[in-house]
Amino acid sequence: MNAILSAAAPLSAIAPFPLNRWWVAGFTWELTDKPLARTFLNRAMVLFRTPDGTVSALEDRCCHKDLPLSCGSVEARGLRCGYHGLLYDCAGVCIEIPGQEHIPTKARVPAYPLREQDQILWVWIGSTPESTPTEDPPHYAVHNDPKYKFGGNSVHYDAPYQLVHDNLLDLSHLGYVHLKTIGGNPGLHMNAELKVTAVDDVVRVVRLMPDSEPPPTYAAAWPFKGRIDRWQEVEFQVSHLLIWTGGMDAGSGDIRAPDREGFHMRGFHGVTPETDHTSHYFWTIATNPHPDKQDVTQLVVDQTAMTFEEDRVIIDAQWQNQRRFPGRTQLGIHVDAGPARARRVIDALVRQSHQASPGG
Ligand code: FES
Ligand SMILES: [Fe+2]
Repeated sequence: MNAILSAAAPLSAIAPFPLNRWWVAGFTWELTDKPLARTFLNRAMVLFRTPDGTVSALEDRCCHKDLPLSCGSVEARGLRCGYHGLLYDCAGVCIEIPGQEHIPTKARVPAYPLREQDQILWVWIGSTPESTPTEDPPHYAVHNDPKYKFGGNSVHYDAPYQLVHDNLLDLSHLGYVHLKTIGGNPGLHMNAELKVTAVDDVVRVVRLMPDSEPPPTYAAAWPFKGRIDRWQEVEFQVSHLLIWTGGMDAGSGDIRAPDREGFHMRGFHGVTPETDHTSHYFWTIATNPHPDKQDVTQLVVDQTAMTFEEDRVIIDAQWQNQRRFPGRTQLGIHVDAGPARARRVIDALVRQSHQASPGG
């Protein structure tokens, strides 16, 4: 069982995660006029949007008698506790105690910086309660690109977040796990040309599969003439991965060209630790509908959702089994190059989080 940490928890209690950075907290469309309870990096928060559009993330605990603030209701000026009616503004300051004129200065709850960027919600989690953002959250231009249409969803994992990274950085599993959608011949996937590169905290994995059979989702979404040249490009950063995949008629162009023609699927994958052993997965998939198939976006989104449910079943079972067999060593094989590199990046960022904290 994981304890929920207060915003003032010592660094040692939160060290497993890279800190002083933006993490994905959800999507714009998830924040309505109802408070939303979510835990990130062992910190229980309530997210809400006031009628003027301001978004806010507060510690999910009323400073009066501990009721989760997520049990309360959103008002024009902030969030009202559902027990005795204390009203908090978007910065966590209590601005009304019903029936009491004096509001003590300690009547407040910790607030976390929360921003919206390209329909993605980002929350800043620092190594100290005073930590403030040192940069803007990342942009994701695909969500605003008129050539693309997208949909997405949030998935909860009963598994540590790095198992989700492992899965997304090693797409060889498509041939075994996703036969009904974006998979295909297992031999093709396991033998695909693979290139892993890393610059600073970014790991890139590129896989090319020329002259291959289009998998079911591709064939349903795009009128290919026959066999296709297929690409998969994964860009990992600790808070999110971009996975851009697609295919074009075999031999019809340069498979590596950034402006290549054909069918594209552009995936955004925000992976945020919830607790030590559970995770949030926030994904969108965007596609460029063919002129003759303008209505395929929902099909691509639905099949992607099906695909990620297949991943969730595998990863949750993997984690349960790791707990049944604790301390066992794992065999490394060729497909592990990308995940292994990403884990080294995370280890370094965790060390930096220690060093960035006074006394850490
Ligand atoms: S517990 Fe929130 S107002 Fe009493
Ligand atoms: Fe998968």
